[in-house]
Amino acid sequence: MSYNLGFIGGGNMSTSIFQGIINKGEFPTSKIWVSGPHLENLQHWKECGANITNKNGEVYSNCDIVFLGVKPQFLTKAIDDCSDSLPKNIVKQKVLVVSILAGISIEHLHKVLSILPGEKQVIRTLPNTPMSVGAGACLYTPDSTVSEQQCVELEKLLSGCGICERVPEHYMSSLGSLTGCGPAFMYIAIEALADGVVKQGAPRAQAIRLAAQMVMGSGKMVLESKKHPGLLKDEVCSPGGSTISGVATLEDGKFRATLINAIEAATHRTLEMGKK
Ligand SMILES: NC(=O)c1ccc[n+]([C@@H]2O[C@H](COP(=O)([O-])OP(=O)(O)OC[C@H]3O[C@@H](n4cnc5c(N)ncnc54)[C@H](OP(=O)(O)O)[C@@H]3O)[C@@H](O)[C@H]2O)c1
Repeated sequence: MSYNLGFIGGGNMSTSIFQGIINKGEFPTSKIWVSGPHLENLQHWKECGANITNKNGEVYSNCDIVFLGVKPQFLTKAIDDCSDSLPKNIVKQKVLVVSILAGISIEHLHKVLSILPGEKQVIRTLPNTPMSVGAGACLYTPDSTVSEQQCVELEKLLSGCGICERVPEHYMSSLGSLTGCGPAFMYIAIEALADGVVKQGAPRAQAIRLAAQMVMGSGKMVLESKKHPGLLKDEVCSPGGSTISGVATLEDGKFRATLINAIEAATHRTLEMGKK
């Protein structure tokens, strides 16, 4: 790799991306920089061979591609910190800034980044934590200055993290709520499904393991068979059988409507937070 990779903010999401990248084994960790206010929270990056610092400016000055991984409410502060900690007389040509901040538009990112030196190109992404195990879903929208080649480079960089798809920016909040918040919904589903068998006396660890494998396998069936999920559902519902009895119970409990509403609520909240 001919470039250095940086992360401003090394919390949960940045760590998931970092793990997905290093698990693939193609990007040398010695070319990765991460910053955050508390060095003690970045020790897991150091143990993997990355460079850690509490100066955001050090990451910005050393790296060609910089992921922004702070919470949206800390964006301005993080960029102010970055500006304040830049090395003196820095000459910076071009930086590709990859934002992972939910709900923050490309336009707003450009405004906040304008205090930093050099030409800033921005790619807005929406990653998810399963990227750390190579099974994530990441959405991205480039600004108009980002080239096709740079998009290909980003997809290549994240290829060890799972699926990475380009989407128009106006779909970011809704599709991003599905991929970003959806894992939490599925964890609840896995836990509840396991509870269903624990209630009947089965061991919890085994119930959780089998529920997780079943959810993963069902997703894989949708992706690999290319069949509509409704058809796959029909294929496992024998007339008068046990599965259709369970399906009827889910319908009775408004399972579909609840999931639809959960995605919509998450999207509204994302948009609301983006306005603040
Ligand atoms: N979690 C998800 O599933 C998910 C999904 C999609 C998008 N996102 C987006 O990912 C971003 C990060 O979320 P997260 O869940 O990873 O949060 P997080 O774990 O709290 O990570 C945020 C990191 O930012 C650091 N930080 C705080 N102030 C900073 C500053 N001034 N300069 C540099 N670093 C600073 C924090 O350091 P300390 O801990 O040391 O204070 C922390 O490591 C958010 O914008 C969120 O919208 C998250």
